[in-house]
Amino acid sequence: MKILVLNGPNLNMLGIREPGIYGDRSYAALEAFVQNACQELGVECEIHQSNHEGVLVDLIQGAYGRMDAIVINPAAYTHTSVAILDALKAVSLPAVEVHLSDVNAREAFRHLSYAGMACVKTFAGFGFDGYRMAVEYLLENHSV
Ligand code: DQA
Repeated sequence: MKILVLNGPNLNMLGIREPGIYGDRSYAALEAFVQNACQELGVECEIHQSNHEGVLVDLIQGAYGRMDAIVINPAAYTHTSVAILDALKAVSLPAVEVHLSDVNAREAFRHLSYAGMACVKTFAGFGFDGYRMAVEYLLENHSV
C-alpha cells in the first residue's frame, strides 16, 4: 500500500510561521512524524511539499497508477484551487484532506474547501496527528 502525502504553500515555513496557530515544530519534523506513522502502520509513503499550484497538480496526476491513496493538506490552495480539485477527481484515488488548524473555527474564507469536495474525509485541528488519523482512516475504510 502506497500513499502520496502532499503539502501545499507555506507549510515549509512551519515552526516559523504563526506558531500560535501552526505550532513550533518544523516542516522537517512533520515529514519525520508522517514517515514514522506510516512505518508503524505498515504503509509506504512518499511526501512532497510545494508552494506552486501546478506542481501540486503534477504530483497528483503522477499518483495515477502508481499510488493507492492521497493525503493532502493543500494549505491556502484549499480555498481557491479548482485545479487541485479537478486533479483529485481526475485520478479518482481515495483522498483525505488534512489541516493542522481548525479551519472551520477561523476566518470565513477558510470554511470553503474545493479540494475537500473530492476527499472522502477531512481531519482539521489535530496538528500533526491529523496526518496519522488520515492514514488510519484510509487503512480502515479504503483497505488500500
Ligand atoms: C492550513 C489552513 C489553511 O487555511 C492555510 O492557508 C494554511 C494551512 C492548515 O494546515 O491549517 O496554509 O491548511
